[in-house]
Amino acid sequence: MCSIIGYRGPRPAARVLVGGLRRMEYRGYDSVGVATGSGGRILVKKGVGRVDGVNDSLRLDALPGHAGIGHTRWATQGAPTGANAHPHASSGARVAIVHNGSITNFEALRGSLEARGHRFASETDSEVIANLLESELGGEGGARGAVMRTVAALEGHYAFAALLDDGTIAAARRRAPLIVGVGDGEHYVSSDVLGFVEYTDDAIYVGDGNIVVIDGGGLAVYGADGAPAEARVTKVSRELAGIYKGDYAHYTLKEISEQPTSIIGAGGDERAIAAAARAIAGAKTVYVVGSGTSHNAAIVAKHLLSAHAGIRAEVIVASELPVHAHSLSGGVMLAISQSGESADMLEAARLASAAGVSVVSLVNHPSSSLARESAQVVRINCGPEIGVAATKSFTSQLAALHRITAELGGPRVDMAAVSRALAGALECDRRARGVAAGLRDMDDVYVLGRGVHYAIASEAALKLKELAYIHAEAMHGGELKHGPLALLDARSRVIVINPPGPTHEDALSDAAKIRARGARTIGIDTADAGEYDEWLRIPECEGWMYPLAEIVPAQLVAYYTALERDTDPDHPRNLAKSVTVR
Ligand code: F6R
Repeated sequence: MCSIIGYRGPRPAARVLVGGLRRMEYRGYDSVGVATGSGGRILVKKGVGRVDGVNDSLRLDALPGHAGIGHTRWATQGAPTGANAHPHASSGARVAIVHNGSITNFEALRGSLEARGHRFASETDSEVIANLLESELGGEGGARGAVMRTVAALEGHYAFAALLDDGTIAAARRRAPLIVGVGDGEHYVSSDVLGFVEYTDDAIYVGDGNIVVIDGGGLAVYGADGAPAEARVTKVSRELAGIYKGDYAHYTLKEISEQPTSIIGAGGDERAIAAAARAIAGAKTVYVVGSGTSHNAAIVAKHLLSAHAGIRAEVIVASELPVHAHSLSGGVMLAISQSGESADMLEAARLASAAGVSVVSLVNHPSSSLARESAQVVRINCGPEIGVAATKSFTSQLAALHRITAELGGPRVDMAAVSRALAGALECDRRARGVAAGLRDMDDVYVLGRGVHYAIASEAALKLKELAYIHAEAMHGGELKHGPLALLDARSRVIVINPPGPTHEDALSDAAKIRARGARTIGIDTADAGEYDEWLRIPECEGWMYPLAEIVPAQLVAYYTALERDTDPDHPRNLAKSVTVR
């Protein structure tokens, strides 16, 4: 995933663009670049590395001009090199573009453009957009016509912004986010409101397939056929402008720490929760779909629906849904996605809708593509999550799921009590640092859980992989004896997620078996039950709240292990916050 940004207005464009890119760096961060228009020419600067590093050495923000585009990249097609960094200029230098997404027919387009004399300087799919656009510029309809003909030739998904040598900004989107910020005599285009919210909270969520042109006459939005399209201005929260790390060393730690408050709004409005519960209760089949952390939340959802509502749900990894698409018919898909922009999830939702399955989405971003394509939307409402690894969004997903199951007969959700449980779990911070120090030189860590706690073990293992680059594997406690015991010896570390409840005794006996092989155990429990070499305390609370509380020590351990191993927890290598490619 990449971020794109564009600006036209009275401010020095490059400064606005670099500031916006810095805020959107969570979306991709292997290279960065800016292009501005000045005196009828397009000036481009770009380099490999993070926004601040590249800006310090190349002074991107010193480029002159009042119109420009910018990009941070997460490499998909073509390695993270200076040549592959965006913006890409057309070979006649009349156009520069920035692109997020993937053009699947770029090889054919590139071949035909080369045959017509266009030269290419990168290995990216994106560069064809600049050259196609340039080749269309002389035709009918000015910038609007050129973009219409360009997008008609593109296959795949994209949001791109182009800077023309007369200072016009033109942009288009297909299945990738594009938002216009409307200021006083100025306009922004961006992948995320974070790109411009410092300057304006008036935003237009550009409809799928639409085209945007910003020139001396102001802003115009068109459909793919060139007819004017709806461009409704909505207010986005100004609070977004204040997303700073504050006193925290990293966004990841800030977001782990704010869970006692970020949880409070989980699920949002009562009516949306009740409507989602009704849809699920009335469905003949319930599919729960997600990727990564959201998939782990889906496993929890399956447990909750079974335990509290007697509903049997099927959990499907979003990227695997196409394999099952032929057997979907009717029912409800509970689509869990923090961003609402993961390409695998969008495809899964499309396939489900096509099969007559009604999509109920659980998202953090109510204006995301998934939310807009869903029959019903439940908001997890945890505020912007900037750290690449999902932390507070996971606990809010679980809390929102609990609110839905409460409508179906599950325990009443007392969010204040959940908040206290999370605050209590955060108190293990000092011990978590100690555990992290012991994991510094480990190659493999196992995380064991039984029942619903297996889903949390799976999430804990994911955090260790992403943040600390440790191979971590979740195990069902009962499966130990069916194979994994063979792996254990004195160098093994096993985190045992084991709160009070029906699985406690069995998981303790798992811990004993593990220790008998010489491996060390780290228990996450309300008490030091005697089978743990190290113990991370969680507070006593109502049984249903434990999955929410018990992930917190695991998040802290993963975060501190990242620091021990000198990795950057906010920007794990090779990962992006929302994965908009399939
Ligand atoms: C894990 C993580 C990813 C996401 C996954 C789904 O920390 O961040 O595994 O959970 O890419 O993203 P969403 O929920 O935005 O669809």
